[in-house]
Amino acid sequence: AVHKIAVIGGDGIGPEVIEHAIRAAEAAARKYDGAELQWTRLPWSTAYYKQHGRMLPADGWEQLTAYEAILFGAVGDPSVPDKVTVHELLLPMRRKYDQYVNLRPAYLFAGVDCPLKNKKPGDIDMLVYRENTEGEYAPVGGNLYPGTENQIAVQTGVFTWKGCERILRAAFEAAQKRPRKKLTSITKSNAQVYGLGLWDDVYNAVRKDYPDVTSNSLLVDAAAMDFVRQPEVFDVVVASNLFGDILTDLSAAVAGSIGLASSANINPTKKFPSMFEPVHGSAPDIAGKGIANPLAAVLSAALMLDHLGLAKSAQGVRDAVAKVLAEGKVRTRDLDKTSTHTTTDMGDAVVAAV
Ligand code: NAI
Ligand code: MG
Repeated sequence: AVHKIAVIGGDGIGPEVIEHAIRAAEAAARKYDGAELQWTRLPWSTAYYKQHGRMLPADGWEQLTAYEAILFGAVGDPSVPDKVTVHELLLPMRRKYDQYVNLRPAYLFAGVDCPLKNKKPGDIDMLVYRENTEGEYAPVGGNLYPGTENQIAVQTGVFTWKGCERILRAAFEAAQKRPRKKLTSITKSNAQVYGLGLWDDVYNAVRKDYPDVTSNSLLVDAAAMDFVRQPEVFDVVVASNLFGDILTDLSAAVAGSIGLASSANINPTKKFPSMFEPVHGSAPDIAGKGIANPLAAVLSAALMLDHLGLAKSAQGVRDAVAKVLAEGKVRTRDLDKTSTHTTTDMGDAVVAAV
């Protein structure tokens, strides 16, 4: 079968890294699954905005529904507020296409320096399932008397039984397929009694359906400490929107580099396209220099291959990345300050390893 994929490179290093993700995914899909991937590059970006006054065409959202998946680089440019770039293209996508699972793996590869002492490759091997459509990021709230000393702002967290249940089930199902079969639910119901209280109620109901999974509930502050002190205890971690956002920057940092952190925004029902993107942004400080690490994008493409049902290809990409990092012959500057290797050197090495 032919898989139709929309590619939005976006801004800064986005288009630079995404081309290498395409090359690696294509090579692996051909070799391991005999599958054909058909790429449609869409120029939606800050440059597009400057020309057309909008981040995407009027029928852009409709256009995207014709694709099985979206491979996304990053948006954001110092010349235009993030309110436009990030808020008109990236954030609406998660809600419009009901991409309620934000999956962010963290893995310590051999050959990557870990900022924590005495950690071996594989000691960090977790999948964080972040709720992506509601919780603390629900656009609910208001502002009274702005600009005065009487200003009052209210920001409401919205937790629904259905919203909590679907992310918790996705996480439990993922835990069932992993060798350790462990799950940690992140909470703060001791302080946020209503929203996170509901989260805990759903967790306690849902866990009964997965007796083969060993699960526990952990307060987010304790979790932050353990991500640093003993990340090896975590397997699958499931968290609300805000807690998942913060904890995954931490998990990316302890696993070595933001240049390796991949993510998926998944609509498991497949009613709408899912979107795959590196965790990092457009990195204006290094854009155009050809030195960005493409591996976060490459590993995001591997998550896309999983979603397309091409599991062998996905593993092929991950094995190729692991091989290149373990050999250590090619390292971008985020992995080794003294290195002079380019984005293309790294992309070439991965394709060769595939
Ligand atoms: P950033 O992730 O773009 O960069 C942070 C630091 O990490 C920079 O020093 C950068 O050089 C480095 N870095 C990032 N990716 C790298 C890679 N692949 N290889 C080597 N080094 C890398 O975050 P920042 O600077 O806060 O944001 C820049 C712009 O990107 C902003 O406009 C922001 O809103 C946007 N952004 C967009 C995201 C998206 O499209 N998903 C996510 C995060 C930020
Ligand atoms: Mg974040």
